[in-house]
Amino acid sequence: MAQLIDGKQWALVSREETAKTVSDLKTNGFTPGLVVILLGEHPASMSYVKGKDKAATAVGIHSELIQLPTSTTEAALLQLIERLNHDDRYHGILVQLPLPQHMNEETVIRAISPQKDVDGFHPLNVGALTSGLPGFIPCTPLGVMKLLAYEGISVEGKNAVVIGRSNIVGKPMAQLLLRANATVTICHSKTHNLASFTREADLLIAAIGRPNFITGDIVKPGATVIDVGINRVDGKLCGDVEFSTVDHVAGFLTPVPGGVGPMTIAMLLHNTVEAAMLMAN
Ligand code: GUN
Repeated sequence: MAQLIDGKQWALVSREETAKTVSDLKTNGFTPGLVVILLGEHPASMSYVKGKDKAATAVGIHSELIQLPTSTTEAALLQLIERLNHDDRYHGILVQLPLPQHMNEETVIRAISPQKDVDGFHPLNVGALTSGLPGFIPCTPLGVMKLLAYEGISVEGKNAVVIGRSNIVGKPMAQLLLRANATVTICHSKTHNLASFTREADLLIAAIGRPNFITGDIVKPGATVIDVGINRVDGKLCGDVEFSTVDHVAGFLTPVPGGVGPMTIAMLLHNTVEAAMLMAN
């Protein structure tokens, strides 16, 4: 059986570190602030933003959740972001994705000040990551790197295969692994003979968005398998990895729920405190 990576436990460790930093900052009269904006009432998004807001408050961050109707115009949202960019109480601004159909995601992301872009989605932060410069790193891939570090799983020289090429997970994940000296392959929906790549992966990151896509027969024995998928099947949460078969083949495996998910939120808190400290100096 694979050794399970307990993301919930590691997220607690990370959140405690963050809470300590927040406490020190508060002693000096400085409170980190985060504002989360949600448009519409998408049930999964509502649940995510409430989780983020609650976790931020729990570590002592001043957190505000702004819920707006789906009908909000893009101009009104851009105006709000501009106001928050200049509001000293908030060091981090997060606009929950996906946005309503009538909004242009790129325009909205670009409107967020790169210094407050705790999601790391602004093109300046994306460019910084690609160039190896300092900047904000997207929370989910950062959480994966942190889990690997906590577990003492080295990446250097390993064959890392990332499945999925989204801006939120796949692409920044590949950049981070490359920066950690892995040999990185990105596979996606158009990849021919996907199994030939996954079977060679010492480290397999599944960020496809299809339930139980990665089965035990396409995993290299002893591999570290990180499941970034969050799918709902018959109301039940499941990942992109078929746990029952991969559990018999992998060396390390993250469960869903309780794997990468809790780390994503922990990294949002980490980035918010980083943003606050950069602005305090
Ligand atoms: N939607 C799904 N994941 C994310 C995330 O990490 N940040 C934002 N803003 N929206 C998301």
